[in-house]
Amino acid sequence: MTLPPAVSGARLLVGHTWEFLRDPGELVRRGHAEHGRVFSVRLPGRPGVVLLGQDNAKFFHAESDALRLSIREAYPFLRHMFGHNTFWLAPHEEYLRQRAVLAPQFCPRRITRHVAEMDRRTTALIDSLPETGTVELTDLLGPLVIEIATSLFLGDDAASRFRRLLTEFRAFADGMDPLLPGWVPARHLLRSHRARDRLRRITSALVAERRAIPAEEPDFLELMARAPFQDDLLVDLVVMLVWVGHETTTGHLCWALTDLLRHPEELRRVHDDAFLGRALQETERLHPVTPFLTRVATVDIPHETCVIPRGASVMLHPGVSHRDPAVFTDPDSYRPDRFLTEPASALQAFGGGIHRCLGEHFAQLEMKVVLRRLVERMEMRLLDPDPVTVKGHRSNWPRRPCRVAYAKKARPFLPT
Ligand code: HEM
Repeated sequence: MTLPPAVSGARLLVGHTWEFLRDPGELVRRGHAEHGRVFSVRLPGRPGVVLLGQDNAKFFHAESDALRLSIREAYPFLRHMFGHNTFWLAPHEEYLRQRAVLAPQFCPRRITRHVAEMDRRTTALIDSLPETGTVELTDLLGPLVIEIATSLFLGDDAASRFRRLLTEFRAFADGMDPLLPGWVPARHLLRSHRARDRLRRITSALVAERRAIPAEEPDFLELMARAPFQDDLLVDLVVMLVWVGHETTTGHLCWALTDLLRHPEELRRVHDDAFLGRALQETERLHPVTPFLTRVATVDIPHETCVIPRGASVMLHPGVSHRDPAVFTDPDSYRPDRFLTEPASALQAFGGGIHRCLGEHFAQLEMKVVLRRLVERMEMRLLDPDPVTVKGHRSNWPRRPCRVAYAKKARPFLPT
């Protein structure tokens, strides 16, 4: 048995490295066209195996749950951001211990309490805008999403007390570099490290304050502050949660709004909760914000007629899997109602198995609240009508500029 067939275009010595870093989507599309749903790419130091489609995603998650595919080894560049012992970067037993504390905080009953806060912050943002104007979508919605995540994890008043939190988190995100090791003194990595240190200091202070004066109704921060975690770990966990909670949701929310604005007949239906859920799924299908889900094989793993060798990077690419015409009819078109008959189970952007996104319910609620409020209060028109995805390995946000011209409605109403 051998490695899956390799995609064309590998260069001498560097293999597919540059293309993988610059435009991984194009590389995966070519691999799919040449070899179908399982193929390999040549990456620095190790082979990469790409798995596409629903059955391969199930295989990927089952092998991850059985620890033959390791999430811990897969994202080494996150260690300098979140520490070595934080959640899936920790050994498996330690990850399970931390997960057992975190997971109950994400149950629907707890999360639903935050709807009023999401709504209040969205309304305040709209109120703060001039009556008419132009906004860049990621500039408008990114800070809102961070504010909402901050209020969930660090307490209601954290965002207003620490205005710089928002800019610190953007600088911190610059550390997501799959190529350069964290110790390289590159400008973006140094910026990220400085932001990380400031975020740790602010978070420690908030935890200490909360321990000294408990809240009347215990919130997430308080439950975490009482959890059996060392202070350093506690702080890194909270920073990680705010980061994962905003980085992904911002991209999905921006895409969901652009998709709706490009389809006015669908925009009019956002007050229908079930429809809005399907619209968010359709955006997940067309614009999954996570470019790859990655693992490292801890043993040789036979798969179909090939073998995935120990040490290989194994990757799902939701963007290409979601456009398979064998699963979704007319896969490039935006049709939220397709999910009345087509399988939402084929969607991969929230992951699967034990690592399936803990914040999915929170993100769905938040995106629904924000989208409804924006559509209720503002007429909006896309000034850049065909937004495209940023290239590379950061979350798949729409590439800037992605501008919207708006006018506040004289009498806010929900379109019928
Ligand atoms: C549109 C929004 C979101 C998307 C697309 C998304 C996507 C994902 C994906 C793909 C994973 C699995 C990664 C892997 O297996 O390699 C994941 C895990 C996770 N997500 Fe999300 N996420 C979103 C929002 C959130 C939010 C709002 C939070 C927190 C409030 C959150 C918290 C987490 C956590 C804690 C995990 C780790 C679960 C584990 O490994 O046990 N996510 N997310």
